Amino acid sequence: MECSWKTVLLLVCASLGIQYTAIRTLRDSLSGPCQGAYRCQSRHHRDSKWRALCDDSWMPVESPRKHILLFATTRSGSSFTGQLLNQHPGIFYVFEPLYHVQQAFTNSSSRVRHTLDRRALLGAYRDLLLNLYTCDLHFMENYIRPEPQDHVTSSFFRRSSSHALCSPPVCLERGEVVVVSDLPDEIWCPKKCGALNLTLASMSCLSKGHIAIKTVRVPEVKDLRTLTEDPRLDLKIIHLVRDPRAILASRMMAFSDQFRAWKIWNATGRQPRYVDLSQITSTCKDMSASAETGLRRPTWLRGRYLLVRYEDLALNPTDKANEIYRFVELDMEDRVQTWIAKNTNANMSSPPEWSYRYSTTRDSRVTAESWRLRLGFDIVRTVQNLCNDTLALLGYKQVHSAAELRNLSHSLVEHRLFQ
Ligand SMILES: *[C@@H]1O[C@H](CO)[C@@H](O)[C@H](O)[C@H]1NC(C)=O
Ligand SMILES: *[C@@H]1O[C@H](CO)[C@@H](O)[C@H](O)[C@H]1NC(C)=O
Ligand SMILES: *[C@@H]1O[C@H](CO)[C@@H](O)[C@H](O)[C@H]1NC(C)=O
Ligand SMILES: *[C@@H]1O[C@H](CO)[C@@H](O)[C@H](O)[C@H]1NC(C)=O
Ligand SMILES: *[C@@H]1O[C@H](CO)[C@@H](O)[C@H](O)[C@H]1NC(C)=O
Ligand SMILES: *[C@@H]1O[C@H](CO)[C@@H](O)[C@H](O)[C@H]1NC(C)=O
Repeated sequence: MECSWKTVLLLVCASLGIQYTAIRTLRDSLSGPCQGAYRCQSRHHRDSKWRALCDDSWMPVESPRKHILLFATTRSGSSFTGQLLNQHPGIFYVFEPLYHVQQAFTNSSSRVRHTLDRRALLGAYRDLLLNLYTCDLHFMENYIRPEPQDHVTSSFFRRSSSHALCSPPVCLERGEVVVVSDLPDEIWCPKKCGALNLTLASMSCLSKGHIAIKTVRVPEVKDLRTLTEDPRLDLKIIHLVRDPRAILASRMMAFSDQFRAWKIWNATGRQPRYVDLSQITSTCKDMSASAETGLRRPTWLRGRYLLVRYEDLALNPTDKANEIYRFVELDMEDRVQTWIAKNTNANMSSPPEWSYRYSTTRDSRVTAESWRLRLGFDIVRTVQNLCNDTLALLGYKQVHSAAELRNLSHSLVEHRLFQ
């Protein structure tokens, strides 16, 4: 069958943003090179003829594509914040795709897992981000274990956190429709949708106007510089920070095995010799180094960096969400507003933060400072010494006694505007 490139591409591309079913029908009736046409926005196509034909001008996307990065650290409230992006119907959201890269780069045969080559790892992180931002989800196949077969995998990390990966066209509901749009449960999506077809995921990505990715694996914002400078991307970095004392308390609850020494310290009031202070120290260092870089406004980051304190978001979710949406230059859709209303109510009967490791459904106001009732003063004092510069930079007050620590009517979050 003879296939006129231009006509077919025009047809296929034009239908992309509008109707997935249209593409399917077209693709089914076509053969040969046209099969790859859904990738026409991918900027890495080796054939230059393709690239010319697949110019962005063919894409019926109304506003230019936004590439949003939620740049955070473990237990800083990024699941919650990510939901503000995930709920937007025009955003294709992926939760921590870099997990797979880190797995591939980590030597799991040694008892303490360690990264083989940090510089190469950061390069691979950026490669994956760039490819995801251009909707090439097949690129993930280099890292997912076990290796996907026929572009299909059952091992996509935290798939349930991504609305787009659990709804049509990626997920063709089988049997009864379960209403589960924002349950934190990680099992429902693979159960309802079966294995993930990465080709369908790529197509879904292309049909959305914008892409948001959450990661806690990039250490510093300067590690993202080549991406902010890449002319093919319009990268917007939301830097989410949180009081390091709260981060520590949350990590102790979520990862109790890893934090056994800390828990002993917390329970006895005595610091064990073998407690590892390096992790929280580097968390603080990375957090303030990134904030300093961002607030200095270097040319490569200008207009692309927003510092958000989780505590401000928890206290004032609607205003902060509005600020985030203004920053990424998108309208905050009703669905986002509805999700906020449902998940941030002062509702003492909702599950506390630690009842589910990655729960986002909770009363954000109550949990933001609840760490103050869950950490011994001795630990707090130690973290304050390790992280004093970070606390000062981000506007978190130190406490000087156990009584001050436990007195919740005395807020430790200073009013700050990071503009
Ligand atoms: C992985 O770790 C083990 C144990 O520490 C070591 O013997 C092995 O050489 C490491 N492999 C690589 C590829 O570094
Ligand atoms: C994945 O989806 C694509 C596009 O619809 C389809 O052509 C392919 O057969 C699917 N793969 C599998 C293994 O079902
Ligand atoms: C509070 O939570 C309970 C149980 O999760 C729920 O039934 C109730 O509707 C919630 N109330 C409000 C005001 O959100
Ligand atoms: C620390 O100990 C107190 C009791 O002294 C306990 O209530 C709290 O849950 C513990 N915190 C953590 C993070 O384990
Ligand atoms: C933090 O502690 C170090 C060492 O004790 C000190 O030199 C530095 O001035 C402190 N920074 C702030 C902001 O207090
Ligand atoms: C708790 O803090 C508030 C506000 O700073 C203060 O007025 C109050 O006296 C404190 N309560 C105690 C018991 O220290």
